[in-house]
Amino acid sequence: MDRRRFLGSSLAAAGGAVLSGRGLHAAGSGPRGEMVEPAQVPGVVPQAETERARFPDGFLWGTATAAFQVEGAWKEDDKGESIWDRFTHTPGKVKGGTTADVACDQYHLYPQDMDLAKRLNQKSYRFSISWPRIQPSGTGAPNMKGVDHYSRFVDTMLERGLRPFCTIYHWDLPQALEDKGGWPNRDLAGYFADYAGILAKHLGDRITIWAPFNMPWTVAYMGYGVGALAPCRTNFDDFLKAAHTLTLAQAQALRSIKAASSKATVGSAYGMCPAYPKTGSDADRAAAARYHAMNNVFFLEAAMKGSYPKAFVGEPPFDRMGVKPGDEEIMHAPLDWVGFHYYTRRIVSDASHVQAFSGGGFSGTEIEADPATGRDPYTRFRAEMPTEGPLTESGLEVWPRGMYDLVTQISREYNNPMIEITESGCGYLDAPYEKENGRVPDTRRIEWFRQELAELARAIADGARVRSFHAWSLIDNFEWANGHTERYGLIYVDYRDQKRTVKDSGLWYGRVAATNRLV
Ligand code: FCB
Repeated sequence: MDRRRFLGSSLAAAGGAVLSGRGLHAAGSGPRGEMVEPAQVPGVVPQAETERARFPDGFLWGTATAAFQVEGAWKEDDKGESIWDRFTHTPGKVKGGTTADVACDQYHLYPQDMDLAKRLNQKSYRFSISWPRIQPSGTGAPNMKGVDHYSRFVDTMLERGLRPFCTIYHWDLPQALEDKGGWPNRDLAGYFADYAGILAKHLGDRITIWAPFNMPWTVAYMGYGVGALAPCRTNFDDFLKAAHTLTLAQAQALRSIKAASSKATVGSAYGMCPAYPKTGSDADRAAAARYHAMNNVFFLEAAMKGSYPKAFVGEPPFDRMGVKPGDEEIMHAPLDWVGFHYYTRRIVSDASHVQAFSGGGFSGTEIEADPATGRDPYTRFRAEMPTEGPLTESGLEVWPRGMYDLVTQISREYNNPMIEITESGCGYLDAPYEKENGRVPDTRRIEWFRQELAELARAIADGARVRSFHAWSLIDNFEWANGHTERYGLIYVDYRDQKRTVKDSGLWYGRVAATNRLV
């Protein structure tokens, strides 16, 4: 197929999105509808840089998913109810009114999905374990049906040459523990460490890489502070308390995993956005530093140094967080490697003098709801997602250079640690196109990955020690409160019959994995 037809089919599949010369992102048209060359689209990485990019031998190309988003089988094999089952079964909560009761049915279809990952030359698969499958009410003896399921799943990955990378908690808290107060209840740190120890005992002979939490800040803030995600509580003190419990839980889990498995390495899967001050003023620079401290490295610093970074205006609200004497020692649990996600960036300004605070919605990463307000009464900054670069269909700004800035910043600040990119990706709705034999010509996703991977390669060339990259996601899946209205997969899922179709981006990513180049 020639380039013109190829772009034409992309246009059709993208529902009318305008593409620029190299099949770049939507929004490639100027104010009068004229086509804009890639170099003129803000934030675009020049083609010469993407062609130059190389990844080191042995680089671990991977993909990521989360149990609740892909598994389905929501009450099979004695699984307990999770806070996300409760959320999705509450009318009005999920956009489009769907649930994740079936999702991608990966609980049953995992051999097929791991075959596809192998076909795409993958070397790492980041998955999460559903706590209520292992302990239906959050405490006590393990449900061996759940343990055996994950044991088979891990074997399936290993047989296909995939490194099983386990996230212990990707948001699906047993509802019974929410009924005991949820993450603001400090007792959950101990329960979580017990759960992590069970996993390490039963799976630690084969899993060597563990991340206790996916995006702990989001768990605390979106779940308890502003209620955008389950369990939808809206109390800033609960947010602060939940954050501290998560810090204790992270460290206690690290110790219980290592006690149960001598092969274990423990790191993280933090959500991070590079923060740029809105102006050069001291106040805005200090606000951007507070954003970085609160949203990016709060839990990392706690683990590495046993103390919290300066995220608050004035004295830290340790009493309201429930910090007790001796907690610094408990929190201190240096990580073996540092894992974080990159999706987009933030522009941050000072909100010290603002009286109104509002939370923000969640769409893959947090978004400010009302830029006129500050975000919370403690950190007192305003964080906006700019729209200088094009937006994905999921509404996040495309800003490849943020990847370079973030990776180099973390490398500088934490003594050049071993880094795993735990997630990165983009939501576009491209679907199978009948006239091209049902293939999915998602050229915007290819270009998204090409550009931001070029920026990752540049960070590596400049000395960052990055050993893996996990694309979010292997397959389209259930996107939390946005339900099935967003698609992040390299593989298309038809939810009516669970048919998988590898998108053009998946085929491209498979070639990248085989060559270590952005072909
Ligand atoms: C990340 C989440 C993941 C998914 C992607 C789009 O922040 O970890 O579960 O929702 O965003």
